[in-house]
Amino acid sequence: MKIGNVEINSLFALAPLAGVTDMAFRRVCKSFGAGYCESEMVSAKALSFNDKKSFELMRIASDEHPCAVQIFGDEPELMANAAKLAVKSGADIVDINMGCPAPKIVNNGSGCALMKNPELCGRIVFSVKSAVNIPVTVKIRKGFDDENITAVEIARICEKNGADTVIVHGRTRQQYYSGHCDLEIIKAVKENVRIPVIGNGDVRDIKSAEKMLEFTGCDGIMIARAALGNPWIFRILNEYFDKGIIINQPAPKEKMEAMAKHIELVCKYKGEKLGMLQSRKQISWYLKGFKKAAGFRNEAGYVSTLSDMYALIERVLNSQ
Ligand SMILES: Cc1cc2nc3c(=O)[nH]c(=O)nc-3n(C[C@H](O)[C@H](O)[C@H](O)COP(=O)(O)O)c2cc1C
Repeated sequence: MKIGNVEINSLFALAPLAGVTDMAFRRVCKSFGAGYCESEMVSAKALSFNDKKSFELMRIASDEHPCAVQIFGDEPELMANAAKLAVKSGADIVDINMGCPAPKIVNNGSGCALMKNPELCGRIVFSVKSAVNIPVTVKIRKGFDDENITAVEIARICEKNGADTVIVHGRTRQQYYSGHCDLEIIKAVKENVRIPVIGNGDVRDIKSAEKMLEFTGCDGIMIARAALGNPWIFRILNEYFDKGIIINQPAPKEKMEAMAKHIELVCKYKGEKLGMLQSRKQISWYLKGFKKAAGFRNEAGYVSTLSDMYALIERVLNSQ
């Protein structure tokens, strides 16, 4: 897959997940073969106020290229400035968020609210594309609600205004993350634009990936929730789709080693105190499927130091 002039070495990319796809997690997913990874969404407005935390979200490590920074907002000029800052930060791709369903975003006219305003979508894409010389992608949903299924129209407008790729999550804003991802709409977008289309929604294994690729004809797939505590999903999918080889889930020891490496990176970047607090949910995701997982996941809610985590890992591995 190629996004603009950026070569992507896998069919599978890590989707943006606010509160999750920080530099540490992206590096772990990249090490397991993700074609590229997206940052958490960054507010164009906050960047214009020089918000330190927003700049932090755009930090990119040298070993994670190609990497995309996702920006959100509803003002073309601010979005263009945010895109320039993403380039400064080292982004290889800038992605425009037109899919976020959260009220605090939508009620401000950003995220998925944009899908109700095709003319503004076009202006934002044009403005961003004119501001940078890296590829621009747009992440959209099926539409705002059942009465506004606008993915095809919006995708065509994005293409017309210079977008290099569209990413389509086959749910409406109204659905949030419930119900099923509609593969028909991804197929319809693919049939109506010439730029690459990345399908997104409910891909969690080889079977669901195969279905997405075959049914929709999409050029690549973005994975979000199925990567949580499961970053080796990229290795499993690459092995199958590149070489036809079905490999197993890693052994418990390898899983725990990957988790430790991930959480150590979080602590390196954010300090142990904040890092461990933020990592509790990650640890709990990694423990899914282990024997006695319920008890251990409960314990994950109390880890405060890396030593606590190493001790937990030892108890987990001794119980398998
Ligand atoms: C906790 C959470 C945070 C998310 N944050 C973002 C975000 O910052 N930007 C975005 O475009 N989508 C975001 N999404 C949506 C995902 O990128 C993806 O489109 C959605 O989860 C469907 O894919 P999946 O079925 O593979 O999870 C988020 C989803 C979740 C569950």
